[in-house]
Amino acid sequence: MRALYVSAAVGDAGRSLATLAEILGQSDRNNRRDHVSGVLARHEGLFLQAIEGARIDLDRLLERLRRDPRHDDVRLLAYGPASERAFAAWGLALADVSSDPGLAKGRRLDELTPDDALAILKRAATRIPVAA
Ligand SMILES: Cc1cc2nc3c(=O)[nH]c(=O)nc-3n(C[C@H](O)[C@H](O)[C@H](O)COP(=O)(O)O)c2cc1C
Repeated sequence: MRALYVSAAVGDAGRSLATLAEILGQSDRNNRRDHVSGVLARHEGLFLQAIEGARIDLDRLLERLRRDPRHDDVRLLAYGPASERAFAAWGLALADVSSDPGLAKGRRLDELTPDDALAILKRAATRIPVAA
């Protein structure tokens, strides 16, 4: 299964590198434990995240995410079966979407169609190093 959502960073979480690193560290640990894979993008105060795994693990994660005060307005763009994992190489990796043509002309993460959002994350993932 794959879930895709956008949310709005709250306060510091929209700009701080330390907060982003904290989220990534904690999430990568948890996701590996739960056989969840994913990528996270932060762009102009919004988060876009894809998570992949068993339904029960995704549901538990979405529960935790909805309660996390570092973001709000968690809006699910897509949730359903995926023929294969697109982000299997990572527990949770940071996707740099800042130069993606899909976000040109000030287009925001919360204005994307689910298909465009997934395509942007997949393009960004091709530029993420895979740990040995
Ligand atoms: C934008 C964002 C993305 C997150 N992604 C994940 C994730 O992929 N996996 C995860 O376990 N926690 C993620 N978290 C953190 C969870 O909301 C929650 O704080 C964490 O899972 C609790 O973990 P703990 O039980 O180890 O303290 C994310 C938080 C934010 C704000």
